[in-house]
Amino acid sequence: MTPRSDAGQQPVPLDAGGPGLDQDALEAQLQVFAREIGGLYRSQKARAEQLEEALAALKTAYLETIRSFAFVVEAKDAYTGLHLERCRAYGVALMEELGVAGDHPDAEYGFLLHDAGKVGVPERILSKPGPLTAAEWRVMRAHPVIGYQMLENIPFMTTAAEIVRCHHEMFDGSGYPQGLKAEEIPLPARAFSIVDAFDAMTTDRPYRAAMPTERAAAELTRMAGTQFDPDVVGVFLPLIDRLPPIAT
Ligand SMILES: [Fe+2]
Repeated sequence: MTPRSDAGQQPVPLDAGGPGLDQDALEAQLQVFAREIGGLYRSQKARAEQLEEALAALKTAYLETIRSFAFVVEAKDAYTGLHLERCRAYGVALMEELGVAGDHPDAEYGFLLHDAGKVGVPERILSKPGPLTAAEWRVMRAHPVIGYQMLENIPFMTTAAEIVRCHHEMFDGSGYPQGLKAEEIPLPARAFSIVDAFDAMTTDRPYRAAMPTERAAAELTRMAGTQFDPDVVGVFLPLIDRLPPIAT
């Protein structure tokens, strides 16, 4: 192949040679460049892989720290620990099914920490055997906001903080603390309230036996539109049989 010539000039072959142009030396130089670039690429790739591994390890350590914190906050009995773990796993599965898991990578922290604000509620209220007074309810109902304030300034925890703040909101606006309605409640919080209720219904508690899965599903359907987002319930019900197993 020859380069295009300008009008009126003859094409000049590339291998025409000439004073100062040493083809062998040029090729040798190019090979040195190619080797250097190859070496540079390999070292950068190795470095990128090391950084990725370090980032993954950091993320795991971060999640483990948050999980430990959640368990310390709530680990009053074996039920609570497994309840948190199931809420996290079921919540993540539901977020994936909704196709929004990638948009909210910190949602699982919110699922684990939903009741973390209870550290701000006195023990005598938390473990009171009888019904709470109106004043005690007011204190108890502050726990979503207390939890939100604990998380709101932590980087990358925006969704987690919203889940914590909104986990007692109800679809029809009758929940607390803000009385948000329908889509005003962030989707991850709407998803959480379904998995939280489902797990509570299908687990043995000291005061009642676990409900069969079918009955819990019927309860979710009955409360779709009042307590729960009916569209999200519709996505969750077919997922029940595929929920990840949690070791007991
Ligand atoms: Fe709560």
